[in-house]
Amino acid sequence: MTKFNICVIPGDGIGPEVTASACEVLKAVGEKSGHEFVFSEVIAGGCAIDQFDDPLPSASLECAKNSDAVLLGAVGGPKWDGLPGKKRPEAALLGLRKELGLYANLRLAVLFPELKSASPLRDDIVKDGVDIMIVRELTGGIYFGERGIGPSEGTLEDGTPKGIEAFDVERYSEAEIERILKVGFTIAMQRRKRLIVVDKANILETSRLWRKVTEKIAPSYPEVSYEFMYVDNASMQLLRQASKMDVIVTSNMFGDILSDEAGMITGSIGMLPSASLGDPGKPGMYEPVHGSAPDIAGKGIANPLATILSSAMMLRSSLGLADEATKVENAVRSVLAQGYRTMDISLSSEDKILGTKEMTDKVIEAYLQD
Ligand code: IPM
Ligand code: MG
Repeated sequence: MTKFNICVIPGDGIGPEVTASACEVLKAVGEKSGHEFVFSEVIAGGCAIDQFDDPLPSASLECAKNSDAVLLGAVGGPKWDGLPGKKRPEAALLGLRKELGLYANLRLAVLFPELKSASPLRDDIVKDGVDIMIVRELTGGIYFGERGIGPSEGTLEDGTPKGIEAFDVERYSEAEIERILKVGFTIAMQRRKRLIVVDKANILETSRLWRKVTEKIAPSYPEVSYEFMYVDNASMQLLRQASKMDVIVTSNMFGDILSDEAGMITGSIGMLPSASLGDPGKPGMYEPVHGSAPDIAGKGIANPLATILSSAMMLRSSLGLADEATKVENAVRSVLAQGYRTMDISLSSEDKILGTKEMTDKVIEAYLQD
């Protein structure tokens, strides 16, 4: 029996409801597999701003650093939208990523066969399914670069004073690029062995460095066929031929944008899990791709499946329990196959609509029967 310390950060909005569901599932996994999960709950995000005037209190960060893995719900909401950058709930996310060294963000966009008609794309485009892994660099680039705002002395061509000017810097080092590309190639090896490196190399110096580093390390992965694609084209190809795409590896900002697009293609953002990983042996962080959905918070109707699937990723990638991970994923599929849906993924009047708790119970029931 192994004891695993899980740091749980429920966060804001529907975060507390969906993390509670995933913890219930993990408890069932513990009971069935003979392992023990010890949950330590801490606060971060908007609720931490309200309580401590700090989106990421140091005790919360310490708990995360000392855990085997972190389960995060979601942070943010309209209540905190007016606050300056460093005081916003999102600063908790960026802080956790940076402090835990979580440079690789894995976002899976899968079109579940049971939910095929949820995709906004035409049937003939998605008939072969969609299963794309987006590997997003998470601790570098423009989200962490130098930034500033201040009055400018300059003028436009016609003499109009520029007024206030702001800037954000995109900066990437060879080492940062190399480690994320290695994650991309390694994951491609475990999947369909096709990798797309997305960039804007026709404009950006950083992108040209990404290409150079790709060419340097690609020979170590001879089985992976890779190609470069400009981000504007990639956003188009996602709509045109999502079925053909396997693994995308890209910078922080491009990955942020494309992963939302890919999530939308599946039609069920409430289903999509993610993992943020650093060096082996360090705690990873697992969270649903959807946000805090403040409009439905506290109503008991949030879809817990993305967080449950995130906990499956945790079992596989941080806790070495791949078999249990697969069983949890199968349980989710089996519940969908039985026609159970939360409201956000319901497509037909024949669906059996469940709330957060009932859906969680169904998944646990299916898991225990496996
Ligand atoms: C995401 C979100 C975050 C990001 C925000 C909330 C900071 O959009 O996880 O994709 O941009 O990384
Ligand atoms: Mg985003």
